Amino acid sequence: MPVKAYVFDAYGTLFDVHAAIGRHRATVGPDAERFSELWRTKQLEYSWTLTLMGRYESFWTLTGQALDFAFARFPKVDRGLRASLLDAYYKLDAYPDARPALAKLKAEGCATAILSNGSTDMLTAAVKGAKLHDVLDHVLSVDAVRTFKPLPKVYDLAIDALGVKANEIAFVSSNRWDVAGAANAGLAPIWVNRGGNPDEYPGLEPVAVIRGLAEVANLSL
Ligand code: 2OP
Repeated sequence: MPVKAYVFDAYGTLFDVHAAIGRHRATVGPDAERFSELWRTKQLEYSWTLTLMGRYESFWTLTGQALDFAFARFPKVDRGLRASLLDAYYKLDAYPDARPALAKLKAEGCATAILSNGSTDMLTAAVKGAKLHDVLDHVLSVDAVRTFKPLPKVYDLAIDALGVKANEIAFVSSNRWDVAGAANAGLAPIWVNRGGNPDEYPGLEPVAVIRGLAEVANLSL
């Protein structure tokens, strides 16, 4: 089934989640990398545990709660940075290969979209800040269904918005758990394995593995 649309995960795939710390690295101090990793890990953990409990809080709320945990875990990091770090997260940098990849796909006549656990306001601000609005047809937030990936009903948002079959959607994510979720929902997942990480989630494989977004448009799917 030829792919008609490309749907991208946002955080870690189009937007660099560690860019917020990157802008304040000198002030955060020597724990900057570990602080940023923990912030991201807790943000995701909260989304999954709430989902298992049948509860929902916006990803923005969870991002703030995860940041507070990171401050508690690394007491040497100045809590006075909280507002600045959240502000930076709201307007994360896109990876340099994001815009050219989206533009190439659009030029080839493919539909493009974001499907993200991020809340609508976060995604709107990030897309605007990174100037990606003209190369995206849809920006889809889980806010519409008030639950998180990798539940199949979230991936259904993309199928409904694009009006194509599940296996006509290439779902591009750097998060292997998200690739597994997309495979489970019947989409054709592409794993952006920038860091050369080992594979996981056997039985829920990507249709392709790439090292950067520049390779997306070169795949024959
Ligand atoms: C997303 O953007 C959380 O990276 C994940 O949906």
